[in-house]
Amino acid sequence: MSEWIRNTFLYLSQNKQLNKFANRHWTTFGAKKFVAGNSIEEAIVKIKQLQESGLSITVVHLGEFVEDENKVKKETLEVLHCMDVLFRAEIDAEISVKLTSLGLGVSYELALKNMRNILEYGKEKDITVMIDMEDYETSFDTLRLYVQLSKEYRNIGTVLQAHLYKTLKDLQKLSDSNPYLRLVKGAYLETEEVAFPTKENIDENYRNIIKLNLLYGNYTAIGTHDIDIIDFVKDLEETHCISRAQFEFQMLYGIRQDLQQSLQKEGYKVRIYVPYGKERYGYQMRRLAERPANVFDLVKKIFKKIVCKKIIILILNFL
Ligand code: FDA
Repeated sequence: MSEWIRNTFLYLSQNKQLNKFANRHWTTFGAKKFVAGNSIEEAIVKIKQLQESGLSITVVHLGEFVEDENKVKKETLEVLHCMDVLFRAEIDAEISVKLTSLGLGVSYELALKNMRNILEYGKEKDITVMIDMEDYETSFDTLRLYVQLSKEYRNIGTVLQAHLYKTLKDLQKLSDSNPYLRLVKGAYLETEEVAFPTKENIDENYRNIIKLNLLYGNYTAIGTHDIDIIDFVKDLEETHCISRAQFEFQMLYGIRQDLQQSLQKEGYKVRIYVPYGKERYGYQMRRLAERPANVFDLVKKIFKKIVCKKIIILILNFL
């Protein structure tokens, strides 16, 4: 049942037409939990609170699958604006971007040009730019662009997903160039031809790539809420004398705040991935897919809202 829910929500998150439609009409039921605000100006309040509590931050403007050049331009300007607001507010944050919102759907060259603008501005303001990893098809151009630009810029990083078979090889290929990598399990629906089908296989591969990257001596961001994986990293730290300066844990805004705080209290670096923006559909669908209980919370909220509306109408009719 939970596998079915997961696959359904992942399918919904990746449907381009639904994305376009839903981002125009989607209500924000339940999204507040996962999204810090509609604009960076609104989100900055929450970002400051997180920073004051000692957590590190990654900020991301929500949006994906943009194929209209005007919209791509707007998205690029929004990322630059976001960096400007963070710089002026003296927030020490990274930003994350999705290449499908920066022009990859139009052409590789357009995404490259926009990324160069963003990286140049980031270099000036001392802001690191992380490229999120999207679906399997997109991953080839994403890695190509990352490799190309990491020869020109140091303030760049990207993500590798443990659920893809090819990830171990990708990691090995990148390892000599001292890459800045966030390692995650993978949040996109893929076929068995390209990705491990079971959680056990994904978790095993996740452990392998984390261990390998740490033993290569490369800085490693571990993006997970999985306590078993976190304990595995703590064991590696002890058995292989890995310095805490060589890795950090990353978690999503609004998820497992208890764990975020307890790790931070233990002295680990913890970074929170804070999304903002109105185009929440794809992001929210992926969060629902990851935890079926979130789906039931959402249904409860919608039901409550409908019942409240009905009661108000009944009262008004009665009066
Ligand atoms: P897993 O899914 O096994 O969950 C372990 C436990 O965490 C659950 O039992 C539950 O307690 C909690 N949990 C997980 N998800 C939850 C949710 N949505 N709501 C409530 N509780 C939840 N993926 C990708 O493909 N490309 C990317 O660029 C990124 N970037 C990224 C950045 C950061 C900072 C994080 C933390 C994650 C990503 N991801 C990602 C998403 C990642 O691939 C993965 O889908 C999620 O992190 C969920 O997997 P976990 O490792 O948390 O384990």
